[in-house]
Amino acid sequence: MALKRLIPAAGLLLVSFGAMAGIAEREGAKGLVNAYLAGHGGSLENPPETYPVDIQDTVRICGYCHGMDGNSIQPNIPSLAAQNPLYFVEQMLVFHAEDRYPVFMHGVAQQMSDTKKVAAALYYADLPRTQTMDVNPEKAARGEKFYRNLCAHCHGSEGSGASETYANIRSQRPDYLIITLKRFRDQSFKRKSHEMGAIVGGLSDADIEGLAHYLASLPAPGAGE
Ligand code: HEC
Ligand code: HEC
Repeated sequence: MALKRLIPAAGLLLVSFGAMAGIAEREGAKGLVNAYLAGHGGSLENPPETYPVDIQDTVRICGYCHGMDGNSIQPNIPSLAAQNPLYFVEQMLVFHAEDRYPVFMHGVAQQMSDTKKVAAALYYADLPRTQTMDVNPEKAARGEKFYRNLCAHCHGSEGSGASETYANIRSQRPDYLIITLKRFRDQSFKRKSHEMGAIVGGLSDADIEGLAHYLASLPAPGAGE
């Protein structure tokens, strides 16, 4: 994760919303994040030394479900800590467009300006993940085989994303990983990606459980990176 330099700041107006909205139409999540960072003399490839994120009021609300430090304490709800900012902003836009459930998250996305969506993504990207579970080595070994063959070229050799557009799934809450992979497989909920359904279509429940154990066995992002 290249973005390690945020500083907390309250009450600053960052980049004009109108200017960002124009870029958003052209480039989606990447345009929004780059516009925010450009306002502080940088870009995703070359992040500024420091950039303020005015988000404390907002993340208090997120904390009730996603954990106050971005590590979820609620069953089946993902951690946001250490999530890749491009994936994060993309999902906020997807929730906003009602292309992903729950409806509650649509409401959250609607209430947040594009600037807030980006600021939240950058805020969480900087926090470490601290999820733990009792890893069963046999299940993890089964999962590793699938991971190397089916997942690594998009989600990266360590699970944190081959590029920042992909979800960081390393040390994500295991119950959320399992329920999400089953939903992709069974096509039982609305997500944007059609790729994932095809990739996990042939996996059994035990294969999916193995993947969760394998991903939990990798060192958490932010721990010693
Ligand atoms: C009432 C509970 C609740 C609150 C409060 C909440 N969320 Fe969520 N959020 C969820 C649930 C549930 C999901 C998972 C949806 C699913 O199962 O796919 C989610 C998913 C997400 C995701 C997608 C993560 C991923 O790994 O794909 C993002 C990003 C997100 N929320 C951001 C936020 C932000 C930012 C806030 C605060 C402004 C917030 N949420 C507040 C319940 C909540
Ligand atoms: C071709 C690229 C590609 C491959 C290969 C791939 N994924 Fe994904 N994955 C995606 C994309 C794109 C998304 C975002 C889905 C969306 O926007 O709805 C995603 C989303 C996910 C999510 C949801 C993340 C979250 O926080 O909600 C999980 C979990 C996941 N993938 C696990 C896996 C596993 C496990 C494998 C291997 C069995 C795999 N993926 C293989 C592209 C891929």
